[in-house]
Amino acid sequence: MIKAIQSFDEYTRAYAASIADPEKYWDDQAAQFIWKKKWDKTLEWNFSDPDVKWFIGGKLNITENILDRHATKTPDKVAIHWESNNPDEAGKDITYKQLYEQVCVFAGVLKQKGIKKGDRVCIYMPMIPELAIAVLACARIGAIHSVIFAGFSASAVADRVNDAKAVAVLTSDGSFRGTKSIAVKALIDEALQQCETVKTVLVAKRTGDAVAMKDGRDYWWDEAIAGATPVYEAEEMDSEDPLFILYTSGSTGKPKGVVHTIGGYMVYTAFSFANVFQYNEGDVYFCTADIGWITGHSYLVYGPLLQGATQVMFEGIPTYPDAGRFWSIIDKYAVTHFYTAPTAIRSLMSFGDTMVEKYSLKSLKVLGSVGEPINEEAWHWFNEHIGKKNCPIVDTWWQTETGGILISPLASITPLVPSYATLPLPGVQPVLVDANGTVLEGNNVEGNLCMKFPWPSIIRTTYGDHERCKQTYFSTYPNLYFTGDGCKRDEKGYYRIMGRVDDVINVSGHRFGTAEIESAINEQADVIESAVVGYPHEVKGQGIYAYVICDKTDKNEDQLRKEILDSIVKLIGPIAKPDKIQIVTGLPKTRSGKIMRRILRKVAEGDLNNLGDTSTLLDPEIVEEIKKGAL
Ligand code: WTA
Repeated sequence: MIKAIQSFDEYTRAYAASIADPEKYWDDQAAQFIWKKKWDKTLEWNFSDPDVKWFIGGKLNITENILDRHATKTPDKVAIHWESNNPDEAGKDITYKQLYEQVCVFAGVLKQKGIKKGDRVCIYMPMIPELAIAVLACARIGAIHSVIFAGFSASAVADRVNDAKAVAVLTSDGSFRGTKSIAVKALIDEALQQCETVKTVLVAKRTGDAVAMKDGRDYWWDEAIAGATPVYEAEEMDSEDPLFILYTSGSTGKPKGVVHTIGGYMVYTAFSFANVFQYNEGDVYFCTADIGWITGHSYLVYGPLLQGATQVMFEGIPTYPDAGRFWSIIDKYAVTHFYTAPTAIRSLMSFGDTMVEKYSLKSLKVLGSVGEPINEEAWHWFNEHIGKKNCPIVDTWWQTETGGILISPLASITPLVPSYATLPLPGVQPVLVDANGTVLEGNNVEGNLCMKFPWPSIIRTTYGDHERCKQTYFSTYPNLYFTGDGCKRDEKGYYRIMGRVDDVINVSGHRFGTAEIESAINEQADVIESAVVGYPHEVKGQGIYAYVICDKTDKNEDQLRKEILDSIVKLIGPIAKPDKIQIVTGLPKTRSGKIMRRILRKVAEGDLNNLGDTSTLLDPEIVEEIKKGAL
């Protein structure tokens, strides 16, 4: 297990040591884990292919470091306090020993269904214990999990299943979210009509709603585990074997499958969890992210469980039965560490302080924020009303591709500045570059955020398309990993993330590519062309604004908007619905046909008088029309 840094002095020394001799630094960290065979070489890398390998030749199974380890040392310690959507339904406390047993049994089910090391398994489930068990069971037998957030549409699921050529899907009958009950299995049935590789579907029971079961393909979870032989012998894996694929949006094309490998991901998620959160024995950690996103992978499933933490896993939503739900959960389990997203903070703020005042929140020691820039107002509210000015807020910057937190305060160690992610973790070497790729030296500079040296959990490839990985992250600036974020380094050397500089929109902490939303809009039969931009949104951070050109039709604008929304819900899911759709007769384009998004962004922001130079436009008139119709 990783021993956390204890003081700012120690951080400074650790950071210097990690830069002077990265291999030695990470060797020492990796030595804290159980390996079946020690690695022969610590690191080989280049950012031009790119090709990064950590702990080369090392053999291990990540689940031995979670299950075998903690089930032996602290068998009766609670690993997961599972809290139901419905506060009146009893939750479940799962100890490390029970988790070990349940994962081994379910791993046995996967084996019995013929699933082998290296096979891809898609998981589309609500936040129930079986989801965490499913993830770990895949890792136990060496299958590569691809968790798909259970809010994506059937069509989005089918794309991901087909891209990964998954052999199995793990799902549930339905799910509870607030007052709603959602038909999960029915969505999988629809998706799988377009997927030929899936041979097995395992269905956990949650809602008890009737579902169709396809003979020879679909099996009930509880029946399957009754006849399974537990896998106590964890599969021996190579350090660089893939652990999982997680799909995420970029500025072009369809979402891509980010691939993380076992050894480096294990070392870095445990390392960053221990250091950033400063979790100590007896603490109770609560991360509100869904396992369907990277935060749920790294800081719900892997990081905390590797460190033997006790945590809360919550099935429901923050506003059910009322907007005090998170606070009531914190009091119920005496949560010490609370990790959430700015969008949740802003949304809960808007319900007024009385929702918070009912609860004591006195157990809290550390607060965390992730997913998007946290504005100062939300930071202060979080600090005053939730942390009672007594809890450090760790503003953790990272990405699906980075696997773990790269820039963040260490709780109670790093001096804080509201809305600053502050300093890099040991081993992390950020650089800021200007548009030409010139590295900006010194402090008080602003540019594009890159990394010049690999850390253990850096993305290895994009599944099935290595060239795409190279183009997206390693080609903009030679020999640098490009994050897609703009960033400022202040006079003290502190980092402040300014937001995306590419065509990625961050809505409530969820990433969407503008191209991805546009192509869903364009599927509506009357649409000729569309352009999507992000704009500042009070609660969501960014809202989605779509400009759409339609063919001549008898439908009125409301009808068109409805059909466009339907198309997005069908192709991506309700989470990608634009906040505003403006029907236009043209788009501002340059003579070479490129859409001038800068102008569209200004209009979306409501900044109509500062559109800048429009003289190079093919048809400057169109700007006037768009301004007039602005929503
Ligand atoms: C943004 C989520 C500011 C950023 C872990 C990044 C942040 C993208 C922060 C990755 C933060 C994440 N401050 N911005 N603390 N954390 N971001 O892949 O733009 O879903 O590139 O990973 O979220 O989103 P992703």
